[in-house]
Amino acid sequence: MSNPLGIAVVGSGIGVEHIKGFQVFPELFDVKVLCDLNLERAAALAEKYRIPKVVGSLAEVSSLPDIDVIDICTPPALHLGQIESALKAEKHVICEKPLVGSLAAIDSLARLAAESGRQIMPIFQYRFGRGLQKLKYLVEQNLAGQAFVFNVDVAWWRDTEYYRTPWRGKRATELGGALLGQAIHALDIVLYILGPAKSVFGRVTTRVNQIEVEDCVAISMEMRDGSLGTISVTLGSIAEISRHRFTFRNVTAESNTKPYANSGDPWHFSFNAAGNEKQMKGALEQFTPSLEGYAGQFYRFYHALWDGTELPVTLADARAALELIAATYHSNERNESVTLPIGPGHAKYETL
Ligand SMILES: NC(=O)c1ccc[n+]([C@@H]2O[C@H](COP(=O)([O-])OP(=O)(O)OC[C@H]3O[C@@H](n4cnc5c(N)ncnc54)[C@H](O)[C@@H]3O)[C@@H](O)[C@H]2O)c1
Repeated sequence: MSNPLGIAVVGSGIGVEHIKGFQVFPELFDVKVLCDLNLERAAALAEKYRIPKVVGSLAEVSSLPDIDVIDICTPPALHLGQIESALKAEKHVICEKPLVGSLAAIDSLARLAAESGRQIMPIFQYRFGRGLQKLKYLVEQNLAGQAFVFNVDVAWWRDTEYYRTPWRGKRATELGGALLGQAIHALDIVLYILGPAKSVFGRVTTRVNQIEVEDCVAISMEMRDGSLGTISVTLGSIAEISRHRFTFRNVTAESNTKPYANSGDPWHFSFNAAGNEKQMKGALEQFTPSLEGYAGQFYRFYHALWDGTELPVTLADARAALELIAATYHSNERNESVTLPIGPGHAKYETL
């Protein structure tokens, strides 16, 4: 591996946010190549962000010896094949959400990654918001106490303009709807704080736009730790919010409601004056804020890669979120509660 790591970004839509994230740390990352089928789009971006090389195919990127990491920011249905190609070319891989469209595919990628000795890091950049990180810190210090309930709202707005991008809204190319494409971050946040889900009852429907995939969802679920939660998702909310509210024995943690930044500050923490309030407040004073968003995930990725420690987001994390989505779809189709885990032989293992 070279230091700084040689990076190729593939896809110049959200790819621009990745480029900006890498370029916060020129001593860690050197974005050497931008790849896109749309060479004009890529060239404009490359010029703006001083990326020296623009290419039109992943095959070209894979053959470049000075690239250590291929960062995939293309439409969802392409991810699986592109990750496989990047691993075959002996590159590390970063890939946007949703990583892939089935649990079987994630398990197969895990085997491929182990064989190739290369790493795959799925993107869940909202994890690194400072408000959420404070709660994570309290939980890791064993101060929050027993988890009781959680409530999540993802109330966003998507109109026909959004679905003009041809891959959106279609099962074959987007792989799923509001759960997979939008609320997956909110699901990851729940799993990140509380650990694995145990059972799910879910309803999904399409009411907002004329698309093939769901745009409204209601989930009622139980976590393996015994806590209960509800998740509500719509892409038809004129007033947009995102909200996480976690009720633990010793703390109620409430996110802000900024739709695309609710894991960041400010979060509101309410403590029990008759409990361990003093310790909790002391812990929060000790909390050292770190970097957020894409830059925060990439910074942690760099150090994990060089130190040989666990990546900030793992294949297992992507699997857990996808498993919850698969269980919700299954519950909706069967009109019954679905127990996790989902493994080989389950109706939702090979496809969503
Ligand atoms: N993490 C987040 O918050 C977040 C936000 C937005 C999008 N995303 C995800 O990022 C991915 C891309 O979304 P987007 O909004 O940027 O889409 P987009 O359509 O705006 O951009 C995708 C780009 O990929 C290019 N492309 C398509 N096929 C290609 C190929 N075979 N080789 C090279 N380039 C190719 C297209 O020309 C296009 O420029 C999706 O998986 C989406 O879900 C994540």
